Amino acid sequence: MKYSRIKGTVDIMGEDLGYWYTIENATRKVAKLYGYSEIRTPIIEPTELFVRGVGNETDIVQKEMYSFQDKGGRNVSLRPEGTAPVVRAFIENSLVNKGFPQRLFYMGPMFRYERPQKGRQRQFHQVGFELFGSESPLADAEVISLLVRMLREMGLMNFKVVINSIGCEKCRPSYKKALKEYYADHLDEVCDDCKRRYNTNILRLLDCKVDIEIAKAAPKSTDYLCDECKDHYNRLKRYLKVLSIEFEEDHRLVRGLDYYNRTVFEVRHEGLGGQDAIAGGGRYDGLIEELGGPHVPAIGFAAGVERLILAMKSEGVEVPPPIVHHVYIAHIGDVVEKALEIAEDLRRKGLTVDLDVMERSLRAQLKHANRIGALLTVIVGENELERDVVVVRDMETGEQSEVDVDFATDLVFDKIREKIQV
Ligand code: HAM
Repeated sequence: MKYSRIKGTVDIMGEDLGYWYTIENATRKVAKLYGYSEIRTPIIEPTELFVRGVGNETDIVQKEMYSFQDKGGRNVSLRPEGTAPVVRAFIENSLVNKGFPQRLFYMGPMFRYERPQKGRQRQFHQVGFELFGSESPLADAEVISLLVRMLREMGLMNFKVVINSIGCEKCRPSYKKALKEYYADHLDEVCDDCKRRYNTNILRLLDCKVDIEIAKAAPKSTDYLCDECKDHYNRLKRYLKVLSIEFEEDHRLVRGLDYYNRTVFEVRHEGLGGQDAIAGGGRYDGLIEELGGPHVPAIGFAAGVERLILAMKSEGVEVPPPIVHHVYIAHIGDVVEKALEIAEDLRRKGLTVDLDVMERSLRAQLKHANRIGALLTVIVGENELERDVVVVRDMETGEQSEVDVDFATDLVFDKIREKIQV
């Protein structure tokens, strides 16, 4: 019996790990630069958290959640996104009492039952950042500039930042009304999804992938902003300019989750095709209250790791190999104790060492050393050891020399250091 992966999931391994490590390192690096601390929430949460948090009328809740009843009859879901769980944890652990602002980041798998295609999986991974407590556009500018710095840290260049403001609960009703009036005249031209959303989620008609021309000509949210929202948006744009962050404005950017207000943003990459959003986020000033906490304004974003990797590959970003074998230790005859000692000594110095555990012939051992790309091989042989020497072979040049066994590890360490940074 053979088993296969569940559709829309992948095994992450091999050379690809170099991209994963690069992305994780860049995430941790910028988190440290801006003072964000990590939070690891459970992968499984109450279904209601997402119904309330993400919104009952969203595609995520309507069609895409992995929801089931556990053996205790509780309705649970695999998390489709990270923000609602972080907010849940924020409230549950009384972080509210610890003063503001608070800055959190996370990395991990998310689950959405979508139709798999390039850049779209059912289990995918996000790195996300959330900033709690500030209503100021300085917070918006911080997370957007952090995101841009993180993408550059990953080696990416060919992306663009797109922003929009969808207003607040004060000004959005008049905008929605204008949209309804506009779309009332176009209802027979729009797709079936949009016909349904006309009553449930009118903003989403704007990012329909089918009726683009109709959406392009639709009223713009930025023309309906109240004075506070207008000022907020203008200040954000000013700060982004000060930070030398290029951006485009797109009135059709509304995002697929219900919790946003005011600033929404996305980063799109030119190498990706249909699913070109490598990151998305926005302000969610009402979500903490919606989920039972006090009023705490917040803003954040998440980037999709698999899409970041596609983007890096399309730009030809080179990443370090996941493992560099510095030294291979071959041994022949009754010398295994010395071989073990040498291996341990080298590992204590911080080198990556592979010692033959297959007890194969020397020829087979050297073949293996080549296959794993070892930089040096130390050959420990009976005859040599009787003379207190071992053989050190440079795998790149093929050069071999006998060295005094007592100085072998120091010499090997120095030779590796000449080749690469350890
Ligand atoms: P989102 O736009 O739904 O936002 O997802 C963020 C990113 O996750 C997307 O830009 C994309 O790169 C990636 N992504 C989403 N779905 C898939 C999929 N099926 N396969 C591969 N990658 C995918 C959120 O999740 C919000 N929680 C972001 C946020 C944080 N807003 C405020 N704070």
